[in-house]
Amino acid sequence: MRILGIETSCDETSASVVEETGDAARPWAIRSNIVASQIQIHREWGGVVPELASRQHIRDICGVVERALDDAHTAWPDLGAIAVTQGPGLVGSLLIGVAFAKAAAATAGLPLVAVHHLAGHIESLVLQNGELPLPAVVLVVSGGHTSLYLVEKPGRYELLSRTRDDAAGEAYDKVAKLLGLGYPGGPVIDRLARAGNDRAVALPTTRLTHADRNAPELKGDLDFSFSGLKTAVLRHVRAREAEKGVGTGFTKNEKPLPTPFSESEIADICASFQRVVVTALLDRLFDAARRYQAKSIGIAGGVSANSRLRAELADRGQRREMPTFLPSLQLSTDNAAMIAAAGLRKLRAGILAPADLNADAALAL
Ligand code: KG4
Ligand code: ZN
Repeated sequence: MRILGIETSCDETSASVVEETGDAARPWAIRSNIVASQIQIHREWGGVVPELASRQHIRDICGVVERALDDAHTAWPDLGAIAVTQGPGLVGSLLIGVAFAKAAAATAGLPLVAVHHLAGHIESLVLQNGELPLPAVVLVVSGGHTSLYLVEKPGRYELLSRTRDDAAGEAYDKVAKLLGLGYPGGPVIDRLARAGNDRAVALPTTRLTHADRNAPELKGDLDFSFSGLKTAVLRHVRAREAEKGVGTGFTKNEKPLPTPFSESEIADICASFQRVVVTALLDRLFDAARRYQAKSIGIAGGVSANSRLRAELADRGQRREMPTFLPSLQLSTDNAAMIAAAGLRKLRAGILAPADLNADAALAL
């Protein structure tokens, strides 16, 4: 059986054909995975502009789906179902994928499956590595989310904790903007950090010991928080500017002014920031694994592309004899193959979308 996956939750228009293999240990194979990124469009504005994103999805969706079918040597009658991201995400962007998928499913007479974007990220791990040893603790860490899940059974995701404020990817993007490094911030900070001293700047690590007022069912001590860290970087930058008698900041039209920092100072800030983020993510992840007696650990989402996070995950896993899993770099950032995979999981559980399916920007998992 082949399924067509469609993903338009943020600034990537993506379509993919994924096939069931019949092998229970490695259930899915990717036949095609096309991603049209809008990064060039949003870069100019320093972040994703929702209205521009939905307009570009409309322009790209038909061509992206055609390419995905062509690359997979698949025609509409060869498909068994369509899966689409229902949420969470930008509502205008989600609507393009949902409307397209509903129309295509109705026209081709195919069942439609609605997928939660984060379920897609979690299943990217299975798509890449085969079924994980369960129970597994999985961290989904991206520009919009930093959430820790317990997976006890395939397709069942229990939220253990999440960020109280900024997502880790959002912190990368904000710090990069502050340093005038452009958008998105993750890849550039990752690259510059390699040349820096990660102890050069003293930055705080946040530990949350109390329950979240807004989510009392979550215990609290596994929660994340990155806005304080971002502010600490801002304070450091402003203090150094004051010492030098210059200012960075932004002009009225949001264009970054030239920074007064040398390359090595920028590298040190990037490395110090990255050390704190990676340590915070991995400490909670391994704490949770111990608490829930996990047999494996996974990290998915855009930030899982981070080179330090990948290396330290493997290293800590080896030291504790804990199997660890990551998606390939291509499956780390938003893509439709992971949506197709999560869609197959739901289809096999008999969960189909209603004919009046609507996008949900704040969909819960
Ligand atoms: O999963 P994703 O493509 O989109 C969302 O659902 O948010 O994640 C994008 C996020 C951005 O914040 C970007 O800065 C971050 O992932 N990112 C990285 C790296 N590559 C992308 N963060 C740290 N290191 C990287 N190498
Ligand atoms: Zn994502």
